[in-house]
Amino acid sequence: MPRIAVIPGDGIGREVITEGLRLLHALNRWHGLDLHFEELDLGADRYLRDGTTMPPGLFDRFRAEFQAIFLGALGDPRVPSNVHAKDILLGSRFELDLYINLRPIQLLDSRYCPLKDTEPSQVDMVVFRENTEGLYTGIGGQFKRGTDDEVALETEMNTRKGVERIIRAAFAYARQSGRKSVCMSDKANAMRHGHDLWQRVFKQVQAEYPEIEAFHLYVDVLAMEMVRKPSRFSVIVTNNLFGDIVTDLGAQIQGGIGLAASGNIHPGRVSLFEPVHGSAPDIAGKGIANPLATFLSAGMMLSHLGHSGLEARLRDAVQFCLNRGYVTPELGGKSRTHEVTDAALTFLENQ
Ligand code: NAD
Ligand code: IPM
Ligand code: MN
Repeated sequence: MPRIAVIPGDGIGREVITEGLRLLHALNRWHGLDLHFEELDLGADRYLRDGTTMPPGLFDRFRAEFQAIFLGALGDPRVPSNVHAKDILLGSRFELDLYINLRPIQLLDSRYCPLKDTEPSQVDMVVFRENTEGLYTGIGGQFKRGTDDEVALETEMNTRKGVERIIRAAFAYARQSGRKSVCMSDKANAMRHGHDLWQRVFKQVQAEYPEIEAFHLYVDVLAMEMVRKPSRFSVIVTNNLFGDIVTDLGAQIQGGIGLAASGNIHPGRVSLFEPVHGSAPDIAGKGIANPLATFLSAGMMLSHLGHSGLEARLRDAVQFCLNRGYVTPELGGKSRTHEVTDAALTFLENQ
């Protein structure tokens, strides 16, 4: 019985997870998937109530008892330190060694693309964001804090093992999915130690995949090129921080942050699936959050559990909502969050 831990989290995270679960429960019933869901009370409310961010032993339970984690978003203006998000989200990425942050950027309906004259076939790429090191480890320190002489250091960690496994994952994915190229992006012209390592490892791994075109762009140029000519890109591999930034850019060219899905994956182990967006305090509680990114993330989770056919059906359902205009206000629609789910369910039921 596949077990899924559910962390709705904060703000619109809770709203979109409610809707994602409606679809997952329906698929579970219709297809006899035998999925078992356990909802966890984690997030800002819990932290403010009893000080708990991540209860002791929970990472061990994730490893021992669960195949997947389905997360909404973490972030609340009442917790300016964001300590709970660091412990729960970044904690899961590090503790569970979820080294692949897989973020597809696919345009499903050209009406929602801000780039002129752009067809869905021109925006279809997958970003492999390194997810366990880079500038995210918290290595660093503050010296003479609060004084005029204060110093703050944030160290970027790049290990050969970490760099190699994400680059290898990108090439392996390109080969297995028949994609034509892998673009590695760094800032080796300015960051001469860590990103030199990326350059050398990229050359080494690309030699093992002669049929796949391998090219390199500095990250500033990558940002420019993703807007100028997104069809250049098929698979992109980059470090943790650059991956964070370019996937928000990518989200916009695929139709908005409400459509961007992600998986935090260690192949063969418990992995975490979540929309790319945050808790959106500006629209939380209004019932207008776009749930489509969560549906696509649920699809990625079903693939991880061995049901890739159902991922395709969920993508078709999202496509249907977009094509028929069952979309939330930020996409110019009139639908409320739960009405988008109603439309997706009707589509799935009648297929
Ligand atoms: P955000 O993604 O929450 O919001 C950015 C903008 O996009 C806002 O205007 C918001 O209304 C809009 N938006 C986002 N998701 C939407 C959706 N599904 N439908 C419609 N509109 C949507 O980013 P932010 O404002 O920088 O962050 C808010 C909080 O969320 C912060 O605490 C941040 O740290 C956190 N955050 C968490 C995650 C996560 O848990 N994975 C990811 C990003 C940000
Ligand atoms: C994301 C988010 C997180 C990140 C934040 C909330 C720490 O922006 O998942 O994209 O930077 O990885
Ligand atoms: Mn982000």
